Amino acid sequence: MPHFLDIDVTAPGDLRAMMDNALAMKAARAGQLKGEPDAEQPLAGHMVALIFEKPSTRTRVSFDVGVRQMGGQSMVLSGTDMQLGHGETIADTARVLSRYVDMIMIRTFEEATLLELAEYASVPVINGLTNRTHPCQIMADILTFEEHRGPIKGKKVVWAGDGNNVCASFVQAAGQFGFDLTFTGPEALEPEAGYVAAAREAGADIRFVSDPHVAVEGADLVVADTWVSMHDPQSTRERRHNQLRPYKVDDALMEAAGKDALFMHCLPAHRDEEVTSSVMDGPQSVIFDEAENRLHAQKAVMRWCLGV
Ligand code: CP
Ligand code: NVA
Repeated sequence: MPHFLDIDVTAPGDLRAMMDNALAMKAARAGQLKGEPDAEQPLAGHMVALIFEKPSTRTRVSFDVGVRQMGGQSMVLSGTDMQLGHGETIADTARVLSRYVDMIMIRTFEEATLLELAEYASVPVINGLTNRTHPCQIMADILTFEEHRGPIKGKKVVWAGDGNNVCASFVQAAGQFGFDLTFTGPEALEPEAGYVAAAREAGADIRFVSDPHVAVEGADLVVADTWVSMHDPQSTRERRHNQLRPYKVDDALMEAAGKDALFMHCLPAHRDEEVTSSVMDGPQSVIFDEAENRLHAQKAVMRWCLGV
C-alpha cells in the first residue's frame, strides 16, 4: 500500500516524480479560479477523509481544495468528534474508514497512531503532521525552493530554532534529496539523533553550529518555525522562549546569510517572536509561495498514493 508516512520511507525517485508532477499540475492551472476543476480529473469517484486531532488552517484547506480540483470528494473530520477520541481503537477505525473512503489523511499527536492507522487501513494513509514529523510541509518547501533557485541538491539549508517535527522532516529530506543541513539552536532542542544518523548514512552533510551568525554563512535557505509546537506543554513556553531567543531570525541574521538566501516558515508564525515581521515581509521571504505550494505538492502526493 503506497502510504505517504514520511520522507525517509519514500523512495527518492518517487519523491522526485511527485515534485515534477506538482510543478506540471501547478503550471497547467495557471490563471484558473481556485474552484475550477483541473483539466485532468484523476480523483474522480474518489472519497477522501481528512482527520484532524490538532488545529490546522493550511493542511485542512489545501487538502480539501486539492481533492476537489482533481475531481474527488473530501470530508473533514475532527478527532474529538469521532469515536476515535472516545475509546474505539485505531485499528478498528482504520478498518471501518477503509470501507467508506479511498484515502485517509490524518494530523495527530503520536506517531504510533499514524502507523497503526496505516497498518490496518486497506487504503492509503497520508501523514498530515505528528509530534515527530511533517512530510507534506517539506514537499511544499522543496517545491518552493526549486521554483526560486533550481535543484536543491548540494545546496545549504539552515534550520534556526527548535529541532521539532518540521525540522525532523527537513533532516530526512536532506538524505533523500541530497542537500546539506545546518542546525543552529540550543543543544537541548536538537533534532533526534536517530534522524541525523540516518540522513548522514544517506549521504547528507548535517552540521550543528551554535552561533547562528556563523551557521547561516553561505546559506541558500534559512528556515524558522514556532518555538512552542502544538504538542509542547504550555508550561514549557517561558523556558523555550528563553532558550530559543538567540536564534530569532532578524534582518541582521538574513544579512549574514547573504542577499541570495531565501527565508521560509511553515506558518503559522508568531510575528516578532521566532522571526521579525521585517524578514517575513521582506524580499528574501517566500512564505506565501510556500503556503500555496502545500496545495500543489499534496495533489501530487495524493495521486502517487492512489496511483492515478
Ligand atoms: N504549516 C501547517 O501545517 O499549517 P497548518 O497547521 O495551518 O495546517
Ligand atoms: N511545529 C509546528 C508546526 C505547525 C504546522 C507544530 O507542530 O505545532
